[in-house]
Amino acid sequence: MDQKPVIETHELTKSYLNHNVVDNLSFDVKEGEIFGFLGPNGSGKTTTLLMLIGLTEATKGWARVAGHDPTREATKVKRTVGYVPENIGFYSDMNAKENLQFLARLNNIPDSVSSKKIKEALEKVGLKDDADKLTGAYSRGMRQRLAIAEILIKEPKIVFLDEPTLGLDPDGTSRIIQHIQSLSREKNITVLLSSHDLKQVQKISDRIGIMINGKMIALGTLEQLAEEKLGVGDREISLDDVYMKYFQEV
Ligand SMILES: Nc1ncnc2c1ncn2[C@@H]1O[C@H](COP(=O)(O)OP(=O)(O)O)[C@@H](O)[C@H]1O
Ligand SMILES: [Mg+2]
Repeated sequence: MDQKPVIETHELTKSYLNHNVVDNLSFDVKEGEIFGFLGPNGSGKTTTLLMLIGLTEATKGWARVAGHDPTREATKVKRTVGYVPENIGFYSDMNAKENLQFLARLNNIPDSVSSKKIKEALEKVGLKDDADKLTGAYSRGMRQRLAIAEILIKEPKIVFLDEPTLGLDPDGTSRIIQHIQSLSREKNITVLLSSHDLKQVQKISDRIGIMINGKMIALGTLEQLAEEKLGVGDREISLDDVYMKYFQEV
């Protein structure tokens, strides 16, 4: 892919108590790309996402998201991106429709436009029958699907997803992954997807980055990483095998 990068970092670093939890990270993600962001718990994935969205400040280095500095131009970045955090929150005393309408208003989408979009989005993620239920009564899987509906309403150019399928059953997981893929392909949305679900990541990612101890120790297409670590014959490549191989060497 030789599209332009829409996410760029240069020596991006975050320290807590003199320890670099994100350590001189330089990478980019191209427009329309689905980037699988892997790594064990505590390796610095969430902290990286938070810096890219402007929710925490880098200690050193810089980032550009859609050409903006997430710290100095936080509002612009927040307007351009969609973010599904690890712990998804909604207004629990509002139902799904009301939550989506609230989001639409925040993004200056008039009710006349949003009402149709909201209906379509809820249908698409399979929440049509639960649209009038208060989100406080939603299960984790339902909240995750509603978060995807939010992305469908906002249609941001760039989406950051922090373990969006964590704790979901296989059917729920595969649905969310399909939504993410079609969203990216149909609207050319760039996706940075942090996940432990290697099979699903393998299915939809254009490139993969593996982070360990704050450093990106591998970066490339699955074929490139497999070539580097396994030497590819014509047997089927599995991201599980490649990931474990990198992991064993740290
Ligand atoms: N606010 C914070 N204060 C101190 N340490 C933090 C803070 N946030 C994250 N960390 C530490 O930074 C490291 C990376 O965390 P995180 O980015 O959440 O990793 P991941 O998302 O890959 O599991 C962990 O060791 C975590 O304990
Ligand atoms: Mg995390």
